[in-house]
Amino acid sequence: MVHYFTDNWENIQNFQARPEDILIATYPKAGTTWVSNTLDLLYFGKTDQERQSSLPIYLRVPFLEMAFPGMPLGVELADKLPTTPRLIKTHLPVQLVPKSFWEQNCRVVYVARNAKDTAVSFFHFDRMNMSQPDPGDWNTFLMKFMDGKMVFGPWYDHVCGYWEKKQTYSNMHYMFFEQMAKDTGREVAHLCSFLGLSTPVEERERITEAVHFDVMKQNNMTNFTGVSFLDFKISPFMRKGKVGDWKTHFTVAQNEQFDEHYRQKMKSTTLQFQTEI
Ligand code: PPS
Repeated sequence: MVHYFTDNWENIQNFQARPEDILIATYPKAGTTWVSNTLDLLYFGKTDQERQSSLPIYLRVPFLEMAFPGMPLGVELADKLPTTPRLIKTHLPVQLVPKSFWEQNCRVVYVARNAKDTAVSFFHFDRMNMSQPDPGDWNTFLMKFMDGKMVFGPWYDHVCGYWEKKQTYSNMHYMFFEQMAKDTGREVAHLCSFLGLSTPVEERERITEAVHFDVMKQNNMTNFTGVSFLDFKISPFMRKGKVGDWKTHFTVAQNEQFDEHYRQKMKSTTLQFQTEI
């Protein structure tokens, strides 16, 4: 962890969730912004269009554990959200989610992305994000990723932790970046059925188009433009949005080492990922 996420720890752990709250939980770079924007449009796209055109995504869907200098605390933003439901983002591993979310039986949408693309995306994010540790070169970063020496801990524990929780906590929808990329419309329909929304087909189609990578990349309310600690000269936040970009980064040797390590780490779970579509 970096201090930006631990500085306000007690208030985070004591956060009072409400039964209608929806927690969007992810390991970093799994498609948090994509799904956050989708949920925001599903709930408020029709009734409050000004919201989408005037408020950046990080104010519509606050990042719970955020304590960045010069920005409001995530818990305060979440507390003050005027909407019902309140959409709240977290990267905390399952065991660190404030207990009120479970006590209130809140809906949880977990988004997972295959480890290789997550690592590549995280590497570029750490390069451009001045609040994250310096990633070093790609090989150094990849070894750190495999070791789990990451802000928010090991990818392996994160994705498996929520997967196990889902076996006993029925109010969780576990979804995949790769499925969103393959058929966004179908994933939007699955979200609606989990959330109990009867959004008409035409509206779902409109939302599917609005959350397309190219549209979100051009949209200053979703592309993180203006966030002071992100250096867009190094990399965009909306970088490529692809499945399989890992192939342009991993050497053959890195890939073999990664696959062997992955088999060991993931041998006792039923959770499966696609690394290409
Ligand atoms: S963060 O910082 O953890 O909240 O980042 P997160 O939003 O989880 O992940 C960022 C990556 O998701 C890609 N992205 C998208 N891909 C396809 N379509 C849409 N609409 C979309 N929105 C975000 C974004 O480009 C990052 O992935 P990479 O591989 O780096 O491009």
